[in-house]
Amino acid sequence: DTDALQAHFDATVARHERIEPRDWMPEKYRATVVRQVAQHAHSEIIGMQPEGNWITRAPSLRRKAILLAKVQDEAGHGLYLYAACETLGASRADLVDKLMSGRQKYSSIFNYPTLSYADVGTIGWLVDGAAICNQVPLCRTSYGPYGRAMIRICKEESFHQRQGYELLATMMRGTDAQRSMVQESVDRFWWPSLMMFGPPDDASPNTAQSMAWGIKRDTNDDLRQKFVDMTVPQAEALGVTLPDPALAWNAERGHYDFGQPDWDEFAAVISGAGPCNAQRIAHRRRAHDDGAWVREAATAYAARTLVEAER
Ligand code: 3HC
Repeated sequence: DTDALQAHFDATVARHERIEPRDWMPEKYRATVVRQVAQHAHSEIIGMQPEGNWITRAPSLRRKAILLAKVQDEAGHGLYLYAACETLGASRADLVDKLMSGRQKYSSIFNYPTLSYADVGTIGWLVDGAAICNQVPLCRTSYGPYGRAMIRICKEESFHQRQGYELLATMMRGTDAQRSMVQESVDRFWWPSLMMFGPPDDASPNTAQSMAWGIKRDTNDDLRQKFVDMTVPQAEALGVTLPDPALAWNAERGHYDFGQPDWDEFAAVISGAGPCNAQRIAHRRRAHDDGAWVREAATAYAARTLVEAER
């Protein structure tokens, strides 16, 4: 009966063991994992656009090869994550439709424009750095297929983060103009990177339940703090200034104190009114329409192969 199933589920979660696709789970748990993993998948796919913008204008063949590989990795991450959602009975076509119609979210960070090549480095360093902070603990999330997907994704993300840092370090060793390009880029991306962790804990409707279910392993504020602590020494090593006058080491807490992002801006961006929301979704729709013939051809081929196999 349901009580016994619920007790078994609760005990599995309490032991920090995995919930697997065929296990019984509360419907709200299933819906929450689908929501989070689908949003994560959408973020990877939409996240290809800001950097993809620079592929044809990379400053060297080496930079172009790196950027192409990175954007391709993001497509791969999106596909693993959609597959993880499918293990819960979600349909990929339905999820894609929810993304394109604005019924499911993707990360706020990808609604900001990439205005210079330094942004490729900054996205690697700060955005992928934030993604790693958030995603390493998700390797231990309670839902098995999500946690296993995260292990490979995190390995690739850490490569992405280092390539961004290396790009910025190279520019910082260059001319004054290059150094100011880096600083200008960091000034634009710092606050949106802090927003990636989600609203403050006391304004996060999902954290408590997701922590109780082991879907999330840390709160939004704890991860944001971890990211700041990790990033400040890297900024010093690079020689860039983080645009936060409140940033200061707090010896008592053993952490950096820092200011709050503009949460009104965050609310606007996640409700569709960020600088690039309309452009990102329009581009995604166009890509989907342009790919219709591929889906039709693959479906026709699969149907023919099936008929031949049955003969
Ligand atoms: N961008 C957009 N929406 C966000 C958000 C953000 N940065 N932060 C929170 N939200 C949304 C939540 O989805 C939720 O909306 P919903 O109820 O309509 O779904 C609402 O704001 C309230 O936030 P909560 O804190 O209650 O929501 P969660 O418990 O889901 O926590 C999260 C938000 C920390 C982002 C969590 O979902 C998470 O850890 N997700 C997995 C990581 C992820 O999605 N990363 C994507 C970004 S980076 C990336 O993957 C690409 C890389 O290659 C660069």
